[in-house]
Amino acid sequence: MAYNVGVIGVGSYLPDKVLTNFDLEKMVDTSDGWIRERTGISERKIAADDQATSDLAVSAAKKAILDASIKPEDIDLIIVATVTPDMYFPSIACLVQKRLNAVNAAAFDISAACSGFIYALEIAWQHIKTGYCKYALVIGADALSKITDWDDRSTCILFGDGAGAFVLGRVSEGGILSAKMGSDGRGAEYLTCPATFFGKEELAKRNGKNKATIWMSGQEVFKFAVKIMPYAFEKALEDAGISIDQVDWFIPHQANLRIIEASARKFGLPMDKFIVTLQKFGNTSASSIPIALDEGIQTGKVKKGNILAMAAFGAGLTWSSAVIKL
Ligand SMILES: CC(C)(COP(=O)(O)OP(=O)(O)OC[C@H]1O[C@@H](n2cnc3c(N)ncnc32)[C@H](O)[C@@H]1OP(=O)(O)O)[C@@H](O)C(=O)NCCC(=O)NCCS
Repeated sequence: MAYNVGVIGVGSYLPDKVLTNFDLEKMVDTSDGWIRERTGISERKIAADDQATSDLAVSAAKKAILDASIKPEDIDLIIVATVTPDMYFPSIACLVQKRLNAVNAAAFDISAACSGFIYALEIAWQHIKTGYCKYALVIGADALSKITDWDDRSTCILFGDGAGAFVLGRVSEGGILSAKMGSDGRGAEYLTCPATFFGKEELAKRNGKNKATIWMSGQEVFKFAVKIMPYAFEKALEDAGISIDQVDWFIPHQANLRIIEASARKFGLPMDKFIVTLQKFGNTSASSIPIALDEGIQTGKVKKGNILAMAAFGAGLTWSSAVIKL
């Protein structure tokens, strides 16, 4: 027996500290005009020095659990998508479990960079669909500010910190209609942050310094993104048996306004079919899609019963997409 699996709770959290483009003008050779024109971003939120990724994750999770009207003990699976764990181990999922007292859950993290949230969603979906689990807490949480090279103007202007969470459970109709994941490791070198090993190539990218910070070939990632985002939307829609004009809201990964505009052009859609939050939050990595959905709900745009199409891409290179009837 396969169960219908729906999103029964949504929550997000963004840190208080705001870093504007004007602040960045004082840190690197850049300008508000350049950043807005090339990315659409005006400001982003940055975690405090004493705020860990797990803190962001717990705050988002608490809101999602409240929204779902369940108890932490009801949760039997916690999956956190992150590339900025507090520690190599334990996982953020285990730290969240402890803080929530979600004593009955199995908990683990997954690493698929900005595509990670939908990877986690897909894994949790399978577990509930088959009856193996009843309630899953799926979190996307990242504090990329902690691994940003603040001297590199080509990357430090892009990212922000945040967390978003869904509670998934059985529903009588609708719910997750499809979820897709894909990777192309041939592009692994284009977006990197070393952890335990600095190979020659990674050292060369960082002028011989073993800095554990983000390095990116922006143009290569951009080329991948404009190609893969419409493909990812199309794949998930095809699997769900939903046409483009049946979609109420497109919720894309929030990396760059030009990438989202390219998808809108490809589908002949106006930009107001897309939820866009990157102006205020930048690219918040694994948390960008649940944050955007929560923002859509909070602002009254997204309503119960809406059909949502989500698509993400990121380091790996990875991509993922999903269609959900809320
Ligand atoms: C990073 C990105 C915004 C750069 O925009 P771009 O239009 O490709 O810009 P380019 O890299 O071609 O650089 C153009 C010029 O601007 C300069 N530049 C780069 N960053 C700058 C900044 N913050 N301010 C001012 N100038 C900058 C470059 O040095 C280059 O100068 P040059 O022509 O003198 O060499 C864009 O490539 C991008 O968004 N890529 C995808 C990144 C992404 O989504 N990553 C996350 C994946 S989840």
